[in-house]
Amino acid sequence: MVGVPQPPRRRAASSASRPLDMQFGLEGRVALVTGAGSGIGRAVAHALAAEGVIVHCADRSPEAGAAAVAGNRTMQALTMDVTDPASVDAGMQTILAKGALDILVTSAGILKTGPISASTPEDWDAVEQVNLRGVLHCARAVIGPMSARKSGRIINIASVSAFRGGGALGNVLYGVTKAGVAALTMGLARELGPAGITVNAIAPAVTATAMTVAQLDPAMQAAILRRIPIGRLAEPDDTAALAVFLASDRAAFITGTIIPVDGGFLTS
Ligand SMILES: NC(=O)c1ccc[n+]([C@@H]2O[C@H](COP(=O)([O-])OP(=O)(O)OC[C@H]3O[C@@H](n4cnc5c(N)ncnc54)[C@H](O)[C@@H]3O)[C@@H](O)[C@H]2O)c1
Repeated sequence: MVGVPQPPRRRAASSASRPLDMQFGLEGRVALVTGAGSGIGRAVAHALAAEGVIVHCADRSPEAGAAAVAGNRTMQALTMDVTDPASVDAGMQTILAKGALDILVTSAGILKTGPISASTPEDWDAVEQVNLRGVLHCARAVIGPMSARKSGRIINIASVSAFRGGGALGNVLYGVTKAGVAALTMGLARELGPAGITVNAIAPAVTATAMTVAQLDPAMQAAILRRIPIGRLAEPDDTAALAVFLASDRAAFITGTIIPVDGGFLTS
């Protein structure tokens, strides 16, 4: 082969020379999870706690918050109404009095179903106040403390309905609020990247939780399943697994994304 020019040698992939450490390294970090009293928020809170995170479980229902933390010494219940900035700020003061906050997960949400033609301005206010403005109140409350430490993770729970204006279970308005969360996520990522804060959203497909279970009659469930190539509804733990990853240093270069956890729903 003398004299024949050789292509430059490929550098060994970093994984070949140095195995990628997939430990999440979250031990001792501190998280605030809203809507942690039920469903997806509760699963996220428990998944973070299992990684050694100290988790503040915020919910407007004191009973649900208390039930979520029962028996777990690294979880603490916090009564908080995300629609009320004073309540959010008071919760933040409680957390910051004990130390720093590393991770915010906004899972508090409500669902509205049915056609917009049958909805009222009161319905619009209610769903917007929790699903969109509630996320904004929480994000605003953590920006200062996280920026001061040049470090933070904000993970918003959006929905596949953000990509299609509602329609699986939630109505158009629900989808509009989740599209708002997606826009907020992208804009905040741009604004907060220089402060060392990543902002991402997870967009689950229909998940069997207290929010949806009353709507999921067999016919509705069968119609939804026909559109999910993986062939089942989402589990709260599907979303929780991604939340743990996004909270970790392994996701340090991921920001401004809205990641579906949907079994392929958006492809069909
Ligand atoms: N279940 C689904 O199919 C599904 C799919 C995609 C996205 N999501 C989103 O995931 C999030 C969690 O939904 P879920 O299915 O776990 O619902 P869920 O009803 O089981 O839990 C929601 C929790 O939020 C709390 N909450 C409601 N309003 C609040 C407020 N103003 N302040 C504080 N807490 C409040 C409730 O008390 C409840 O504990 C929501 O944002 C929802 O829109 C759900």
